[in-house]
Amino acid sequence: MFFFKSIPLGLLVLCLLHHSAIGASPLYHFCFSPENYTADSPYGANLNSLFNLLYTKVPPTGFGLGSTGQAKNKVNGLALCRGDVSRKDCNTCVVDASKELRERCPYRKGAIIWYDHCLLKYSDVSFFGQIDSRNRFYMWNVQEVENGTLFNEKVKELLSGLSNKASEANQKLYATGEVQLDTLTTLYGIAQCTRDLSGVDCKKCLDSAISELPNCCDAKRGGRVVGGSCNVGYELYPIVNT
Ligand SMILES: *[C@@H]1O[C@H](CO)[C@@H](O)[C@H](O)[C@H]1NC(C)=O
Ligand SMILES: *[C@@H]1O[C@H](CO)[C@@H](O)[C@H](O)[C@H]1NC(C)=O
Repeated sequence: MFFFKSIPLGLLVLCLLHHSAIGASPLYHFCFSPENYTADSPYGANLNSLFNLLYTKVPPTGFGLGSTGQAKNKVNGLALCRGDVSRKDCNTCVVDASKELRERCPYRKGAIIWYDHCLLKYSDVSFFGQIDSRNRFYMWNVQEVENGTLFNEKVKELLSGLSNKASEANQKLYATGEVQLDTLTTLYGIAQCTRDLSGVDCKKCLDSAISELPNCCDAKRGGRVVGGSCNVGYELYPIVNT
């Protein structure tokens, strides 16, 4: 069950009450382009071709980008699967994401959608290699830990380490890690960027996401800052399949 509310600047705040058992439900989406295309237009046909391209290009490595069409009918798009997701689950996620985006953002020239397993974004405006600081939302567990000050420090330390690890000489711009808080408690973290970013910009994007944690996730048992170019998350249970 999700609760969410909008805050200014197009940021969306999501509050995650339970860890969702349904892997296939979207986390959120933005229909960020104000522009629309019309049915049977070249743009619509190019969007179809782009989705088909991404279905084949993305699953083998978990990331792909591409453009179809020319001039004002050109569509740019990318998809990224979480670093641990299998080729098969990645494919399912990207296909589901394209169908869901069509329903949620009909005829929009630019839109983005996130799932646990993947993100899919397309736009008539070229965006490859640029940090997307516009499409971003937060999620958190409503339960709080006892010593928030100490916990927040541990979270920041873990994720800052993962930001370095993901962006340094790591082809996948992806890192996970864990730290033992006490004999019974382990903190798990994840950091990932879309692979059109340079290592330097990946780190910039992740560090900016980490710096937003106090806005959503102060002392919370779990939290995520999710964007169009990168995301960070932490939980007191394992986040990824190992
Ligand atoms: C595009 O479509 C949406 C939804 O129907 C509408 O709200 C918006 O005003 C349209 N944009 C333009 C530029 O016409
Ligand atoms: C909480 O953590 C801070 C910082 O490490 C520490 O100084 C303080 O004693 C802790 N408080 C409790 C109640 O454990």
